[in-house]
Amino acid sequence: MSDNQESTDTEDTTTASRSATLPLRPPCERLSCHKSSVCSRSYFVVVMVFFHVYIINVIGLLFYVHYSSGQEDGTRSRDAPSSGQQRPEARRPPSKAEFLRDVSLTRIEGIRVGHVQKVSLVPDKVHEMRTLSLKPLLFEIPGFLSEDECRVVMQLAQLKGLMESQLMVQDGQEELAKELNLSPDEIFNLLDINQDGQLQLHEILTHSRVRDGIWLTPENLREIYAGLKADKDGNGLLSLEEFRLLSNDAFQRFLLQRGVKRSQLVRNSRHTWLYQGKGAHQVLQDIKARVTRLTRLPSSLVDLSEPLQVVRYEEGGHYHAHHDSGPVYPETACTHTRLAANTSTPFETSCRYITVLFYLNSVEGGGETAFPVADNRTYDEVSLIQNDVDLLDTRRNCDKSNLRVKPAKGTAVFWYNYLSDGRGWVGEQDEYALHGGCVVTHGTKWVANKWINIDPDYQRQARYQQLVSQQSEDEDDEGVTLNPDTQSSDVHQDL
Ligand code: OGA
Ligand code: CA
Ligand code: FE2
Repeated sequence: MSDNQESTDTEDTTTASRSATLPLRPPCERLSCHKSSVCSRSYFVVVMVFFHVYIINVIGLLFYVHYSSGQEDGTRSRDAPSSGQQRPEARRPPSKAEFLRDVSLTRIEGIRVGHVQKVSLVPDKVHEMRTLSLKPLLFEIPGFLSEDECRVVMQLAQLKGLMESQLMVQDGQEELAKELNLSPDEIFNLLDINQDGQLQLHEILTHSRVRDGIWLTPENLREIYAGLKADKDGNGLLSLEEFRLLSNDAFQRFLLQRGVKRSQLVRNSRHTWLYQGKGAHQVLQDIKARVTRLTRLPSSLVDLSEPLQVVRYEEGGHYHAHHDSGPVYPETACTHTRLAANTSTPFETSCRYITVLFYLNSVEGGGETAFPVADNRTYDEVSLIQNDVDLLDTRRNCDKSNLRVKPAKGTAVFWYNYLSDGRGWVGEQDEYALHGGCVVTHGTKWVANKWINIDPDYQRQARYQQLVSQQSEDEDDEGVTLNPDTQSSDVHQDL
């Protein structure tokens, strides 16, 4: 039927166009057209054609508006998977595994630096949350904890006892190079980042930190070179020949002989862990509930995260710039979900999607939290350690950090250590999330960390949660509370 209709329309259109192009017909004649049957028919057809075109346009427009606003909602909505980092794959049809996904992580929007949003976290109070940077996505919430809560957390930590955050270096530590069976030439090649056949100071510095936790400064290194007579030609660089003459642990032995002070370690603080589950002190449970509201993440994820870490820095304490979380490689497993990992992987890292850092006191001098590359236009790992200025060094170069947060009692800051994968889950590590604690120049500094652990591998996180919930059901029957902290080796007392 509609085919017929169409063909008639087409025919009529032709007629209409012919009549419409009739030249030199005066307007009055055109107005009286309806009197002639051909003329009135073509007039009707013209009107109908315009009407159809109009309707089609309107329908088209409605479709356009519907779909384009649908996409915007997807990127803008609070509950949407991600904001800025939406990747083109996001619109690919989901694979079979993705159909199983039923959780999408909320990511709070920063809007712009300085933007303030009101948040409702506790009854009878509205908190203000200010965006401090977009790279990493970082917020500050003054008055997140009350004075009393700060006091209780510090007291509970003291009651439990704090331990050194970093152990002093042990003599005769196993060398990774030995385990991997690398020759001096191979090690040299690995260290020589710019492949110029010479080892610059920063190439050595980067390596040493990963190896034994002693924080070397360029001056230390020059002293070591002099002490070991390593740099024979005195040009400040090590050539392959010079490097070959050094034994594997020459630097470490030299340092240990001379004695390593706590201030020379990556981290100089003491800490403890406070369990926040059922039966824990009400203040600790309240903090966990408030963090859940703040982050808008499923409570099951927050419940299964590490306990609260309470840290105390004495005067002179510091924590050089670091990432709270590891990078994502296919072969890495997260410490918190290792129970659910199919195979034992050689590389294990903590997967802390979010860090919530609480300041439990206002520090008299120093002790800021520094973000050396926050909102940098580019991230350039190599230029972080220039030969004489090391931006990662929070004892010397906090003043050169892009952003510093001054500790104020009760304030919380929080940031995302990972980007979004664009599909509602955890993506790549955010390299801009690098941060550290500047040296405390006066007084002591107390902070607490609440890390929210999420495995970037969705299936692994899902398996882990299933496993733990089964376990906790079993244990609930016996009246035992499950301790969610499977990753730190210290024993948790329920305070
Ligand atoms: C940490 C940390 C920063 C600070 O404990 O992981 O980065 O300001 N602390 O103490
Ligand atoms: Ca080099
Ligand atoms: Fe940290």
